[in-house]
Amino acid sequence: MTLIGPFTQVLPLTGMPLKGAVADDALQVIPNGGVLTESGLILAVGDFEKLRKDQPKSQIQEVQGDHVLLPGFVDCHTHLCFAGNRSKDYALRIAGKSYLEIARAGGGIWDSVTQTRQASETQLAELLKERIARHSKEGVTTIEVKSGYGLNVEQELKQLRAIKKASENSKADIIATCLAAHIPPRDFSGSASVYLEYLLNYVLPKVSKEKLASRVDIFIEVSAFNSTDATDYLRAAKQMGFEVTIHADQFTTGGSEVAVNVGALSADHLEASTEKEIKKLAASETVAVVLPGASLGLGIGFAPARKLLDAGACLAIASDWNPGSAPMGDLLMQASVLSAFEKLTTAETFAGLTYRAAKALNLNDRGSLENGSIADMQAYPCKDYREILYHQGKLKPAQVWKASEPVI
Ligand code: NIG
Ligand code: FE
Repeated sequence: MTLIGPFTQVLPLTGMPLKGAVADDALQVIPNGGVLTESGLILAVGDFEKLRKDQPKSQIQEVQGDHVLLPGFVDCHTHLCFAGNRSKDYALRIAGKSYLEIARAGGGIWDSVTQTRQASETQLAELLKERIARHSKEGVTTIEVKSGYGLNVEQELKQLRAIKKASENSKADIIATCLAAHIPPRDFSGSASVYLEYLLNYVLPKVSKEKLASRVDIFIEVSAFNSTDATDYLRAAKQMGFEVTIHADQFTTGGSEVAVNVGALSADHLEASTEKEIKKLAASETVAVVLPGASLGLGIGFAPARKLLDAGACLAIASDWNPGSAPMGDLLMQASVLSAFEKLTTAETFAGLTYRAAKALNLNDRGSLENGSIADMQAYPCKDYREILYHQGKLKPAQVWKASEPVI
């Protein structure tokens, strides 16, 4: 047993609602707190001195100076497995070309497919390990990683195997998702729906057999797949035992409706969602995942996070870290900026980065600090939890623990 502390404040993020708006007075703040852990799990959270007296035999990992303790962040949407970069696209975008115009002219996702196909599985795994290490130092202890820059059997499997390789001995839990349905590949002879059939027949059975991913994603958009084809694909994927999620309502609507209809775990993006989509998501169990990093990378407005919360949705915030629309990858900075623009409370922002994001991945063993949860934690060098968002991402955790093991 190890007692970690004392912390100036511990925010366990327990007793808070799964859905809807949350006022800051719902945040429980434990002054001079400590966390008792055993075998990577949390045994107790409370007053440090009391825990020390009650557990005289526990080892103590003493924390010096003022720190605020939070659960580790869960980044429930990334495309971290890629090679190369799209700085040329970015330069065109800041000079005024749109994401879709650049894609049509040969840049965009297809460019990253070309660059990623040229890398070996080992090279991809090494690149991914570096990005995981950076994220985990910044307090992200669970990271979802999508494929989607392979777009054929061999290349999608290569990406997913690289994700598996990088996740071994990694200091964060990696949740892989098969996004072979990212866009219809340019070198596939056949329609988008024939490509989806090909995925169902040749890619997903192998992904399942090799246990490379238990989740399937699809991009529903004018430039990618339509709602009808996507619905058939996701229903079939579910029948094969996959959990499903959708890139929805990024530029045009339609995707979030499919997400609710097929019972997807989450609908992600939502920049284009209107009152109709907001209402439908709020009435469902599907988590609304907003991706402020993509808005910042594309220079477009944020998803209507405030409206989603007020309507009663479960709102998570993820980085979307990818080489095209969201190259920055700083989750806390993105969430802080989103909260300033969308008027989210600290409680809503922290909830969106932790237990609500865990819900998007169907994980109920993390995202809050409570007995039985995995001891994924991060300590910020400050006296008051409000300083964390106030610094808009520049205040980084001084210590991070993954399953009670120090990451930094
Ligand atoms: O979530 N919108 C589709 N997919 C990614 C972008 C990937 C890329 O541009 O490479 C996204 O923004
Ligand atoms: Fe994405």
